[in-house]
Amino acid sequence: MCGIIGAIRRDGGILNSLVEGLRVVEYRGYDSAGVAILEDGAIAVRKKQGRLENLEAVLEDGAFDNAPVGIGHTRWATHGEPNDRNAHPHQGATGRVAIVHNGIFENYLELREQLTAQGVKFASETDSEVMAQLLDLELQENISLQDAMRRALHRVEGYYALGAICQGPEGPELVCARKGPPLLVAFTPDAAYLASDVLGVLPHTDKVIYLEDGDVAILKPGSIEVTDFEGQPVEREISKVDWKPGDSGLGGWPHYMLKEIHEQPDVLARTALDRIDLERGDVTIEGGQFEDDFLQGVERVQVLACGTALHAGMIAKYLIEGLAKVPVDVDFASEYRYRDPIVVPGTMALAISQSGETADTLGATRLAKELGAKVAAIVNVAGSTQMREADQILLTHAGPEIGVASTKAFTAQVAAAVLLAVRMGRAKGTLPVEEAKAILTELNGLRTKIEHLLSEPIRDHIHDLAKIHARAKGFFFLGRGVNFPVALEGALKLKEISYMHAEGYAAGEMKHGPIALIDPGMTIVSINAPGHVADKVRSNIEQVKSRGGVALSVGSHEGSHKIAGQCIRVPETIEWLSPILNTIPLQLFSYYIADLRGCEIDKPRNLAKSVTVE
Ligand code: G6P
Repeated sequence: MCGIIGAIRRDGGILNSLVEGLRVVEYRGYDSAGVAILEDGAIAVRKKQGRLENLEAVLEDGAFDNAPVGIGHTRWATHGEPNDRNAHPHQGATGRVAIVHNGIFENYLELREQLTAQGVKFASETDSEVMAQLLDLELQENISLQDAMRRALHRVEGYYALGAICQGPEGPELVCARKGPPLLVAFTPDAAYLASDVLGVLPHTDKVIYLEDGDVAILKPGSIEVTDFEGQPVEREISKVDWKPGDSGLGGWPHYMLKEIHEQPDVLARTALDRIDLERGDVTIEGGQFEDDFLQGVERVQVLACGTALHAGMIAKYLIEGLAKVPVDVDFASEYRYRDPIVVPGTMALAISQSGETADTLGATRLAKELGAKVAAIVNVAGSTQMREADQILLTHAGPEIGVASTKAFTAQVAAAVLLAVRMGRAKGTLPVEEAKAILTELNGLRTKIEHLLSEPIRDHIHDLAKIHARAKGFFFLGRGVNFPVALEGALKLKEISYMHAEGYAAGEMKHGPIALIDPGMTIVSINAPGHVADKVRSNIEQVKSRGGVALSVGSHEGSHKIAGQCIRVPETIEWLSPILNTIPLQLFSYYIADLRGCEIDKPRNLAKSVTVE
């Protein structure tokens, strides 16, 4: 959701580091951007609706050069439309404090009424402004910002990552607090920083402190003190981040999405290769994770995830049931957490999440844990809340994913699911060693097949197909078996970035209703792989074609390609691994269609990369 940034430095230069920080967290929300800077004891706020460029256009050159402290925000609107007034930072009535907020204050209406009755005039429609007004009132008693923050936090209900600045009795103050959305802090000898994610501080240091729920941090140049909401000091570890600052740059690519699609050969190698043990026909997950004694106790798996990660979870179901013979349920995390789920003994809840911060996935896994499940997680962001709360962890090594439409994180999740399914199958004794070796050998060699899919001739061919289909009336993506979730993912990608209507379907379901929609304006993308459902998919294409639909076949099944007419040939692999290869042309197809339609690919309308509210 929103991105927040804060910095306090001995030598000034605040504005530059805030804007650079906002640039890397902007993918979290881009309805507006703003900064608040304290200089010579007074706070100046600049904020603008729309992208960061709009804010940059109103920042005076050379302004605030000596300012020691500031905060910044990029917004994904929850309360109040995205306009200048509702943009963060917000200030209280006297202007002595400014805040940035990610999250929701659930009792804001009640607080707003109370404050209005006390004569406070609100300047925005946001829930966040109540915090600025509460702090402003508390600070009128000449207390420090941290004390004012603790008092105010006792009055709000909800979820927040918060940053605040003011001129305190002894100098500039920068304080932050966390309950729910992610927040981390870091310091160097001359400065201290806060940010919603590691990318925000990575240009300054790779040593960070992940704040936990109920933490208040007081930032000073060269030091950070963390306390609880009552002011008692708490110890928090300093963690080293593996990512490099350059990992989050465009590196000459026109869009992050295209860059990230092309990183997939390396991502697969990083996520899978070191963990494959071909000699033993098994998988080793570092840190003693998913070992035999744990997996032998798993009788049922409950996958919990959202969005693209949910599609990876659906593939995990086919893999785990097929290779480890353990029943798997897959739930939208947002549904699971609000029904009465049954957790039987031996349940492993498997959270899958790129960010490790998705509110619904965290909420669902916490519920599963309360009900007695062991919690495992496939997560991309090391140090994320999901990772810290899980009992067993399998990190994907996709690196930072900035494009809002997930690409490399998805294929990394699927590769991780293959590793986990093989590991479970070996631990449970359901997967013969020779079969495990065959799967792992193929996974080991998949990188070159991905590289082939990303080669220029194939890309050009997909581009040409995109030109043909960019004005279609709508799309159906059809798949069966382990490629059914690939169809869902293909449709989701296209919707997300091109705003075209696309639906993913289990191919066999077409005839139970959706086929009524087929006419010559509809494009039917059918995903196939050799294997036990290949011929069924082919006959689904025939049904579509005979009703006038235009078919595009993606995969390695020549029979399907022949019937469809148009096709994208994907290198052959075993059925279990075909989702990884089949997904890549669909990512490119969506990318080119969105580009041809002039859409903003990396920041699609209304979406956010990391959804930290329900
Ligand atoms: C958002 C993103 C999706 C992502 C989903 C789950 O909706 O736009 O791309 O798949 O959240 O995110 P997670 O970080 O948990 O994988």
